[in-house]
Amino acid sequence: MKGILVTGGCGFIGANFVRLLLERGYSNVAVLDKLTYAGRLENLSGVEVPVVIGDIGNLELLRYVCRAHGIDTIVNFAAETHVDQSIASPFIFTETNVRGTHVLLEVARELGLRFHQISTDEVYGTIPLGQHSLESDVLQPRSPYSASKAASDHLVQSYFVTYGLQTTTTRGSNNVGPYQFLEKVVPLFATNALLGLPLPVYGDGLQMRDYTHVSDHCTGILTVLERGAIGEIYNVGAGQEITNLEMLEVLLQTLEKPCSLIRHVADRAGHDRRYSVSVAKLEALGWKAQFSPRDAVAAAVKWYADHPDYWQPVRESSSFQAYYARQYAARLEGKS
Ligand code: NAD
Ligand code: TYD
Repeated sequence: MKGILVTGGCGFIGANFVRLLLERGYSNVAVLDKLTYAGRLENLSGVEVPVVIGDIGNLELLRYVCRAHGIDTIVNFAAETHVDQSIASPFIFTETNVRGTHVLLEVARELGLRFHQISTDEVYGTIPLGQHSLESDVLQPRSPYSASKAASDHLVQSYFVTYGLQTTTTRGSNNVGPYQFLEKVVPLFATNALLGLPLPVYGDGLQMRDYTHVSDHCTGILTVLERGAIGEIYNVGAGQEITNLEMLEVLLQTLEKPCSLIRHVADRAGHDRRYSVSVAKLEALGWKAQFSPRDAVAAAVKWYADHPDYWQPVRESSSFQAYYARQYAARLEGKS
């Protein structure tokens, strides 16, 4: 990997991954990011890499950027990523996650590049207790977000099979850690708790997620880039799940805030009850998660408590406040 283009590198996981690449001695790294509402240049503060502001759907731009920066590997983090947003406004998910990924694959094919796709455990759908998703399982996505990610996974595999493109894919579980946008549950609830606001738990709160520290996800991705088999897919996660109420218990204990902040509100439409991945295939490459879900949540929550300068401007922005009112006002009044 002599030149790595990280698309979506101004987002949560992409920015953490850029930092890891530089720490591990990869010096030719470039970022391409559209800076949607979820992308922030601040996520790369202190990091010296070229950042191109642009859309992964722009084939001409991608071709130019890859040539200009001597890119031989694309790692695609760029996506619309929030399930609730996909329920409210689904079309942009098809545009970026499906068409955008397709454009990147075409550029990789034309220029003979390695291509790594960042996917999600949500493509497997909701998983009954006692079962763990394997990479070979049939995909059963249930939200517009996960359906768009599953579609892009299929496109990636089709380029490997049809054109012999050098592809790999990782399917990560719910990440937590520094630089996560505040709409996702852990930073939202941590900052709500710090502000003394109620924590809107969808439904009974017994949904299960494998909360994984973003540093574990990033080392998993790098392991696959360095040692993964071409054409293969690898799950990445802590390999264990907790309920949302257990996640909340850790969050409130870490911040020393009372349980009285918890509000059960109307559930999310089509809410997946449980995700659970087997990470044996990735572990066989020598990788191991360092954080349990509880430790990952505690570390992430502490980071938000220690970095008010990072999240306060977002909370105060009119766009976030409009989103918060749209998503939660009626729910918190018990009207939906
Ligand atoms: P994020 O929303 O924080 O960041 C996404 C980034 O992509 C933003 O910087 C945004 O500006 C950029 N972007 C969006 N549309 C773009 C476009 N058309 N062209 C260029 N850039 C664009 O998301 P994240 O949580 O960092 O997720 C990154 C990737 O990891 C996504 O592909 C997501 O599906 C996947 N993933 C996320 C999680 C999670 O828990 N957050 C878990 C598993 C997989
Ligand atoms: P989220 O961070 O949106 O990730 P995903 O839907 O991709 O798993 O949500 C994580 C869990 O938290 C999920 O079960 C939904 C739940 N949740 C709430 O209970 N309330 C909220 O306000 C949010 C955003 C999520």
